[in-house]
Amino acid sequence: MKALVKEKAGVGLKLKDVEVPKIGDNDVLIKVKSTAICGTDMHIWNWDSWASKTIKTPLTLGHEFMGAIQECGRNVKNFKAGDRVSVESHIVGRRSRNSRAGKLHLDPDTISLGVDRNGAFAEFVCVPELNVVPLPDQISDSIGSILDPFGNAVHAALSFDLVGEDVLITGAGPIGIMSAAIASHVGARKVLLTDINSDRLKLAKKVCNVEVLNPMEMTIKEKMISMGLQEGFDVGLEMSGSEVAIKDMIKNMMMGGKVALLGLPSKSIDLDLSEIIFKALNIKAIYGREIFETWYKGIALLQSGLDIRNIITHEFNYEDFEKAFKLLNSGKAGKVILNWS
Ligand SMILES: NC(=O)c1ccc[n+]([C@@H]2O[C@H](COP(=O)([O-])OP(=O)(O)OC[C@H]3O[C@@H](n4cnc5c(N)ncnc54)[C@H](O)[C@@H]3O)[C@@H](O)[C@H]2O)c1
Ligand SMILES: [Zn+2]
Repeated sequence: MKALVKEKAGVGLKLKDVEVPKIGDNDVLIKVKSTAICGTDMHIWNWDSWASKTIKTPLTLGHEFMGAIQECGRNVKNFKAGDRVSVESHIVGRRSRNSRAGKLHLDPDTISLGVDRNGAFAEFVCVPELNVVPLPDQISDSIGSILDPFGNAVHAALSFDLVGEDVLITGAGPIGIMSAAIASHVGARKVLLTDINSDRLKLAKKVCNVEVLNPMEMTIKEKMISMGLQEGFDVGLEMSGSEVAIKDMIKNMMMGGKVALLGLPSKSIDLDLSEIIFKALNIKAIYGREIFETWYKGIALLQSGLDIRNIITHEFNYEDFEKAFKLLNSGKAGKVILNWS
């Protein structure tokens, strides 16, 4: 089968012929139909310091996808060949206290598809049955392939009650934009989404009706006052990983405000904890999705009319992967899809 493989250290990927994976008794083999490129794939494509420390080559990339079940292992009970499915990309252990208590997303032995083992940028991928999520007919193939990053947004946005609240979201990458769409859909009063890249703010306007701001042009405080807020934002969703944005968010929260941190800083940052303590902020770190509650809620939000279709800006055939990766490196795209059939 064809697969996009990081063969050795260095920039880029190679389209190669590799063996179809063999499945175990508790696994399914999925015929991949639609995949999406994640920031993580970009780190591996660009071979940055995180990738060079983390990735063991050769590795087939890809963890955001949907497809149809091709074959089921002997113990698989809940799926059959032909079922349309998407997949939770975090493969959890079953021995830890958290895992045995059903808190699968807090299992310390978690590994990731397309990072720690061969992923879905291929004609077929093998995953444990536990990770498979059935796709309702109303969810299209392209939306089915972005449920994993959408799930990051759902996990962060639904961490706090947003009804009637004023929400600040820093970073209008795909996850920040989808978070803004969710906040507005579930009944936040005012939503402000910031980014230093104005193309990203233009894209946000195509996905959801929220206030946007480039903080290089006006401060968050000035914008907040122009929006009629006085004491600061009730809820903050940090989706950029930028030190400046994190500090700006803390500064603009109200006393006792709630903050979800999802963006990953590329280096350690220098924070004044006393500012957080004196504001009595409630901070929650978000990793991945809450397995499987986030999947349930995310699919339910889409079924209740949340429309995130415009976050997908480009679709390519997998053979054109180089164009797709280069486009994403330019910062001029939202979610980019690679189709496999
Ligand atoms: N915690 C998790 O489980 C998890 C999962 C997936 C992604 N992530 C991280 O979440 C973040 C968002 O993911 P994404 O795919 O949307 O990333 P992305 O890189 O496409 O988006 C980040 C955005 O932040 C913007 N930004 C940079 N500095 C800013 C500033 N000072 N103020 C406002 N915006 C600023 C960038 O211009 C960019 O548009 C990334 O840091 C990613 O690594 C975390
Ligand atoms: Zn991803």
